Amino acid sequence: MNPFLASIVCAAIHVALGQFNYSFPDCVNGPLSSTAVCDPTKAPAARATTLIQMFTDEELMQNTDNVSPGVPRLGVPSYQWWSEALHGVAGSPGVSFAPSGEFSSATSFPQSIVLGSTFDIDLVKAVATVISTEARAFNNFHRAGLDYFTPNINPFKDPRWGRGQETPGEDPFHVSQYVYSLIDGLQGGIDPRPYFKVAADCKHYAAYDLDSWEGIDRFHFDAKVSLQDLSEYYLPSFQSCVRDAKVASVMCSYNSVNGIPACANPYLLQDILRDFWGFDDDRWVTSDCDAIGNIFTTHNFTDTFAEAVADALKAGTDVDCGTSYSTHLPDALNQSLITRDDLERALTRQYTSLMRLGYFDPPESQPLRQLAWSDVNKPDAQALAHTAAVEGLVLLKNDGFLPVSASGKTIAIIGPYANATKDMQGNYFGTAPFIVTPFQGAVDAGFNEVVSAAGTSINGTSEADFAAAIAVANSSDIIIFAGGINNSIESEAKDRLTIAWTGNQLSLVKQLASLGKPVVVVQFGGGQLDDSDLLDNDAVRAVIWAGYPGQSGGTAIFDVITGAVAPAGRLSVTQYPEDFVNQVGMTDMALRPGSANPGRTYKWYTGRPVLEFGHGLHFTTFDFSWRGRPGRKYNIQHLLHTADKKFPDLIPLDTFHVNIRNTGNITSDYVALLFLKSNAGFAPHPKKSLVSFARAHRIDAGSSATVDLGVNLGSIARVDEHGDSWLFAGDYQLVLDIGDGVLSHSFSLTGPSARLVQWPRDLSKQK
Ligand SMILES: *[C@@H]1O[C@H](CO)[C@@H](O)[C@H](O)[C@H]1NC(C)=O
Ligand SMILES: *[C@@H]1O[C@H](CO)[C@@H](O)[C@H](O)[C@H]1NC(C)=O
Ligand SMILES: *[C@@H]1O[C@H](CO)[C@@H](O)[C@H](O)[C@H]1NC(C)=O
Ligand SMILES: *[C@@H]1O[C@H](CO)[C@@H](O)[C@H](O)[C@H]1NC(C)=O
Ligand SMILES: *[C@@H]1O[C@H](CO)[C@@H](O)[C@H](O)[C@H]1NC(C)=O
Ligand SMILES: *[C@@H]1O[C@H](CO)[C@@H](O)[C@H](O)[C@H]1NC(C)=O
Ligand SMILES: *[C@@H]1O[C@H](CO)[C@@H](O)[C@H](O)[C@H]1NC(C)=O
Ligand SMILES: *[C@@H]1O[C@H](CO)[C@@H](O)[C@H](O)[C@H]1NC(C)=O
Repeated sequence: MNPFLASIVCAAIHVALGQFNYSFPDCVNGPLSSTAVCDPTKAPAARATTLIQMFTDEELMQNTDNVSPGVPRLGVPSYQWWSEALHGVAGSPGVSFAPSGEFSSATSFPQSIVLGSTFDIDLVKAVATVISTEARAFNNFHRAGLDYFTPNINPFKDPRWGRGQETPGEDPFHVSQYVYSLIDGLQGGIDPRPYFKVAADCKHYAAYDLDSWEGIDRFHFDAKVSLQDLSEYYLPSFQSCVRDAKVASVMCSYNSVNGIPACANPYLLQDILRDFWGFDDDRWVTSDCDAIGNIFTTHNFTDTFAEAVADALKAGTDVDCGTSYSTHLPDALNQSLITRDDLERALTRQYTSLMRLGYFDPPESQPLRQLAWSDVNKPDAQALAHTAAVEGLVLLKNDGFLPVSASGKTIAIIGPYANATKDMQGNYFGTAPFIVTPFQGAVDAGFNEVVSAAGTSINGTSEADFAAAIAVANSSDIIIFAGGINNSIESEAKDRLTIAWTGNQLSLVKQLASLGKPVVVVQFGGGQLDDSDLLDNDAVRAVIWAGYPGQSGGTAIFDVITGAVAPAGRLSVTQYPEDFVNQVGMTDMALRPGSANPGRTYKWYTGRPVLEFGHGLHFTTFDFSWRGRPGRKYNIQHLLHTADKKFPDLIPLDTFHVNIRNTGNITSDYVALLFLKSNAGFAPHPKKSLVSFARAHRIDAGSSATVDLGVNLGSIARVDEHGDSWLFAGDYQLVLDIGDGVLSHSFSLTGPSARLVQWPRDLSKQK
């Protein structure tokens, strides 16, 4: 069957199950009540083992899919493993919003790419904490699961990727920090503990950043990735999620990696995930939805379905998001391709995780089981969604026109996003309690009059509606153009073919700009467009990147326009010139430049970006100085012998303190981005690498703040072709902020160069 058709059919089945009614096991009257299974004083793994041994072979096999029927004779209810909550409890097979009244909505935060642009790790944790609280309230009332197939932490390498919006950005260190904080908030802490608040799932493991591009789709794609790029770029976020934040689950991806489908890939699932990162047996791997079937149907990796499910199960994929396991594992067992032990291992992992969620525990003992509708959409959660949107906005251009006072002025809101509601949420969204459109944001900001006309659509080619828009704009004092990308048109399964502004949006902006009135462009959508025309046009006085700002998008945008809050977000991706798409294919996974690859991300791109990673302007000015005396020499052997060496990459090099003084007259946040530059180690060298960042809040005019920028050895290490990281003797420079920086500091590493971490070798034989 056509793979697209297969997935659409399957998605339809899953969506029908969106009315899933969750309930808890019968630990009061059922056969489990007197066993260790229901005894909260026993260890989770022991309880799960006891339970799983009561399952027959058939019951084991039936419970391997995302929709598990449970074991009614034991009082174990059916369970849907697939709920979603990327930036708020989200519509998904496991989540059902009520049509009205209680549980009809949940706080809808900005999309991940916007949260990433805040560079505010504490805010990310706060957002995740609200999401997990609201998710628990939904679960208590049967409307959502305890397991969330979120977050997406594949670094946003290619600007065409339609799902890049789901990620915090392109930099592996940034994504690693982000995910650590997010998992902390979702799971209710990092340390091993008896309870998970909810179980999160880091996806898509691994090297997944292509959905459908020029006839190549994710179901067939074999990502050819060097060990150097795997270790240095594609996997640090997963290491942070799995090893450091101790996520409950991981999702293997649709694509193959170096010839082996990710969900049947022992190198990824055993050698790296479990052996190297310590993903233990109370945590489980799910496939992406239908990815196990794809091992046979699209990757053609096995001759039969039975072999495909056996390969996946034995490689360590514990849950099939799909139906291939329940359908074909019986054959695999019959043919001795798997054993009962293989099934027990997968099920024990799943149910140990449910034990850690308190699923088999008495509700009275668990405060989380008391959460209710009154814990959803609370005022502080709404305020946080607003703060997150403001913090994530990025001021790309401003000639001094902004901020502008609303008082007495008429403002025109033109463009396809003028009255956007759901379109401001991005994908994986839920029903928001309210959504403030850009138009409404302007009304609320106190403009004398707000007028509006769309003028065109995202990919419109007709100028029929230009005249109305121009007339409206001509009657105003300020013109806002709200346009950009519409990833819903592109569809989540498709990637963009162009990174130029589409349709006639720019032509309309040009005509608006010729009216002699100030024009401000607000750019929406989950990625970047080549803004050269807007940056070069003097009548376009300011450009704000808003991405998908969520329920308070309109409010946040006009907070910045009117100066109620100063902007301080930064681009978490490079803005490339539109010709970039002709210079390298999406299928080329190499980060370093090559004959048909200009290099990728701010680290390796050899061309001139339109706007750099980290770009973002302010309404005020700052002055910077190092506080204290930053270190100048570090001996490699000393560094390696000082601290706990379990994870050498986490050994601190030093903490650098920066004093930031607001020398202007507007209170503002400042995002401190610390980059490392060096020619030490293996060539070609990255131009620079982000090694630390922090967001300082509300620095008043004339006041100062200090940020402490910790740098770990993993950040200054260089990675070789085997994926091993090394500390090299030599000279290094730290640079604060983008371009040539606003402050720099040189230091050297002395002593013999040394290997910091040995990366697991890939000994697997390709089939
Ligand atoms: C879901 O199940 C619970 C009991 O387990 C029941 O009280 C509730 O009415 C059910 N909800 C729906 C929508 O069927
Ligand atoms: C799959 O493999 C079989 C033999 O192993 C071959 O006959 C068939 O053409 C392959 N199909 C695709 C789509 O590559
Ligand atoms: C395996 O399949 C064969 C052929 O369908 C059948 O005869 C046999 O009973 C099955 N064995 C088991 C253990 O299910
Ligand atoms: C946006 O909504 C307002 C209020 O309903 C309306 O007056 C305006 O015409 C709308 N703008 C567009 C472009 O549809
Ligand atoms: C805009 O995109 C949609 C969805 O892809 C398509 O149906 C429509 O034809 C496009 N319109 C134009 C004018 O290209
Ligand atoms: C804009 O308004 C001015 C003054 O009312 C008028 O002279 C001019 O022709 C208008 N321009 C357009 C393009 O409508
Ligand atoms: C985006 O595309 C979707 C699907 O075609 C459409 O419903 C929506 O109105 C579009 N939104 C904008 C702002 O273009
Ligand atoms: C703030 O500073 C700018 C120039 O830096 C100046 O034009 C403006 O008048 C000042 N505003 C206030 C309120 O002092």
